[in-house]
Amino acid sequence: MTACYINGKYKKLSQSSISVTDRGFQFSDGVYEVIAIYNNKFVDENLHLDRLRTSLNKLNIKINLSSKQIQNISHKIKKLNKISNGIIYLQVTRGDQHPRDHKYKNIMKPNIVIYSIKKDFKKLDQLALKGVKTSLYPDIRWLRSDIKSISLLGNVMAANHAKKNNSHEAILFDHKNNITEGNSSSIWIIKKNICYTHPLTYRILKGCTRNKLITILKAHKFKFKEKLFSKKALLDADEVFMTSATNFIMPIIKVDSYKISNGKPGSFSQRLRKEFINSI
Ligand code: PDD
Repeated sequence: MTACYINGKYKKLSQSSISVTDRGFQFSDGVYEVIAIYNNKFVDENLHLDRLRTSLNKLNIKINLSSKQIQNISHKIKKLNKISNGIIYLQVTRGDQHPRDHKYKNIMKPNIVIYSIKKDFKKLDQLALKGVKTSLYPDIRWLRSDIKSISLLGNVMAANHAKKNNSHEAILFDHKNNITEGNSSSIWIIKKNICYTHPLTYRILKGCTRNKLITILKAHKFKFKEKLFSKKALLDADEVFMTSATNFIMPIIKVDSYKISNGKPGSFSQRLRKEFINSI
């Protein structure tokens, strides 16, 4: 059985439920986090717990659990579900409200759910050796992508466009043809030995893997710039890769029918993936 934490109790995931009056169900009024467990270690745990707090603050959702308590619950879920490699999902909605009203009450009781899935990171390592194909898709999401909101329809549509095209991820571009991010990742290019990624604005999520990679780049004195880059620059790049909690650093070798460089994973991307995994 898979266990989950739900509003103070540990229950079977299959026997856990949230009310239809939940504002997450009614309005997508909630946030979430995704933390990888790799060889029994939580990856960038504090960065994710901090970002959860930031997302909650940005939406004025108040929970009565400290980050330490959330950490303890996540570790208990890992133990109960015997996860040595997997993902922890933390879902928080503003809570139940009836009668339905866009305006929330001053005092709400958030619904908090924490559960896990198993993930085979060995398969991901194999994939990283080959690199992945991606597809371009317009960024049709709302304008506050800095909040890790559970409102994910734009991402869902992009991801399913990618799936239809046998792609691993969709790469999103804005109305000026600049790349924002992936449907669930940060996107990077390398040109003339400089790494580029979108600057931190409302249009992208502050990726924890992105954060960690910047620390690695700085430590190794690798050049990087947080700067807008266009669709054209993406296709002309020497290397392209994506970063996320669920993929770590994944080389991208194809964007729709365009090969990136020679169509093989770039050596720098592969080196960064190794550095990242060594840092876990
Ligand atoms: N997504 N941008 C978006 C839109 C994302 O959904 C994610 C992560 C990222 C990368 O963030 P991080 O490095 O902290 O994982 C960027 C997770 C994996 C998800 O929603 O499943």
